Amino acid sequence: MVLRTLLFSAFLGLAACSSSETVELNAASKPAESGQKLYKKYCQSCHGKNGDAQRGNAADLTQSTFTEAQVRDVILNGNDKGMMGYKNLFETEAELDSLVQHVFTLRTK
Ligand code: HEC
Repeated sequence: MVLRTLLFSAFLGLAACSSSETVELNAASKPAESGQKLYKKYCQSCHGKNGDAQRGNAADLTQSTFTEAQVRDVILNGNDKGMMGYKNLFETEAELDSLVQHVFTLRTK
């Protein structure tokens, strides 16, 4: 009985280890990657890879002081200074979150 319990917990330990590794890898790479991908596809042409290209009068994202809510709003709805809205771009809330996160990583101040 004791042996069985030991074996069982060793097995659980292994399972926990391997599954937590996968979870960590996903957590670390997945959201950042998809936000980064979306950015590259849809935003980089004006804002540039690092956010500071300012093509077509685009805001310099490295110097942005927008709050998270403002960034979400301008991505979804655009603004009257030439940024268009991207309401239909996102299939999930997580994609928008991930893109918002990526925009924040571009800040240098
Ligand atoms: C066609 C060019 C263009 C594209 C593509 C574009 N933007 Fe913009 N963006 C602009 C312009 C123009 C502004 C407004 C500049 C201003 O407010 O002074 C702006 C403003 C912003 C702002 C406001 C920042 C601030 O502090 O004022 C954010 C955030 C932003 N864009 C994010 C994005 C994201 C994320 C994408 C991709 C989904 C994107 N933009 C795609 C041109 C573009």
